[in-house]
Amino acid sequence: MASALPRVLVLNGPNLGRLGVREPEIYGHASMADLKIAAAQWGEELGLEVEVRQTDGESEIVGWLHEAVDAGAHVVLNPAAFTHYSYALRDAAAQVTTADLLLIEVHLSNPATRESFRHYSVVAGIATGTVAGFGFDSYRLALSAIAAKLEA
Ligand code: DQA
Repeated sequence: MASALPRVLVLNGPNLGRLGVREPEIYGHASMADLKIAAAQWGEELGLEVEVRQTDGESEIVGWLHEAVDAGAHVVLNPAAFTHYSYALRDAAAQVTTADLLLIEVHLSNPATRESFRHYSVVAGIATGTVAGFGFDSYRLALSAIAAKLEA
């Protein structure tokens, strides 16, 4: 039987499959596998059906955003480096929010405090909201925001 819980796709862009190995002083020591376990737990606590995915491919993440629209799923999106230049990703993400679904942009680090090329997000202008700078907690806060908004 299909779950009656609201569905949330947690989509992660390039290099985030390297979490735990990649620049741990910035991104921490936990891995994408750890995030999947944590997000499943948060989903249970918040009454959301959460699925975490990661890809290095722009076309794949664009396809997942289309899937979210067609399935009526809300999205937590860490676009990684695509944040800063992918208009294709931005246009796909815009379809989520124009379908009245929630899309929260998340970042582990706070890009505003880092190199200048990270200061601009092509996604921010079409997102429901943004959470950045709290490590894994950015994802938990984004899921909490979705649960709160759905209850309001
Ligand atoms: C990131 C920040 C981006 O600037 C960077 O390209 C990433 C990760 C973050 O989660 O802090 O890959 O999205």
